[in-house]
Amino acid sequence: MMDAAAEMKRPLLSVKNLSVSYGAIQALKGASLDVYPGEIVAVIGANGAGKSTMMNAIMGDVKRGGGEISLDGNPLPARSFQVVSAGISLSPEGRKVFAPLTVMENLEIGAFPLKDKGEIDEQTQRVFNLFPRLEERRNQYAGTLSGGEQQMLAIGRALMARPRVLLLDEPSLGLAPIVITEIFKELAAINKTMGMTILLVEQNARKALLLSNRAYVLQTGVIISGGNSRDMLNDPEIIAAYLGGGAG
Ligand SMILES: Nc1ncnc2c1ncn2[C@@H]1O[C@H](COP(=O)(O)OP(=O)(O)OP(=O)(O)O)[C@@H](O)[C@H]1O
Ligand SMILES: [Mg+2]
Repeated sequence: MMDAAAEMKRPLLSVKNLSVSYGAIQALKGASLDVYPGEIVAVIGANGAGKSTMMNAIMGDVKRGGGEISLDGNPLPARSFQVVSAGISLSPEGRKVFAPLTVMENLEIGAFPLKDKGEIDEQTQRVFNLFPRLEERRNQYAGTLSGGEQQMLAIGRALMARPRVLLLDEPSLGLAPIVITEIFKELAAINKTMGMTILLVEQNARKALLLSNRAYVLQTGVIISGGNSRDMLNDPEIIAAYLGGGAG
């Protein structure tokens, strides 16, 4: 823990004053957050708060209107494939696996920044160690996987690029509680064993706060609060707004 604290000087991923508009709708209004090396950081917020917009703007999948994003102190490139090559990968909301392609083919696509076949094989093996079910189903079409398996594939595909920061947009969406528990256990393992830095957005605030070290609350395009995830789990305002009514 002391080592982690010593490394907490410079954020690995830093988002400053990010604004994004879709025509007249301003989805992000100067949102800022920092993610330090080795951390799991969660962004919680209701439907339409701008969580996916935040992820997609980091990835360069939607146009950033203003603000700055940096990775390890360097400005992040604008285009999606450049962002992946720079070291950030996204497991998108709704998973978006390539249904008519096999598990292996999906993983190979995720590995596009890796040049060397040996590196790709090595990373494939890492992903299979994390998700043995993907290895069993390596030749199965992604579209025929269960929802939970598709989520594992989306995470695995993102990991194939050997990112420095893994972004996850609603990994629990539409999954049964037992599958959510399994996926979140793997995310904790990815963070621990790979030392992977993770930024996660979730409507399932309880799960997100239990998994993460720190969290931010995004409300209608603005970060309104943030802090240590354990503290937030016990914060009456967070409980009332985000943890009531069977959110977990
Ligand atoms: N392509 C788009 N065109 C127009 N408006 C959009 C577009 N994408 C998102 N929005 C709007 O931007 C706002 C933020 O949407 P976003 O998808 O980022 O929210 P979210 O927090 O991810 O919500 P959810 O929890 O439902 O996934 C919403 O008001 C939404 O309607
Ligand atoms: Mg979303």
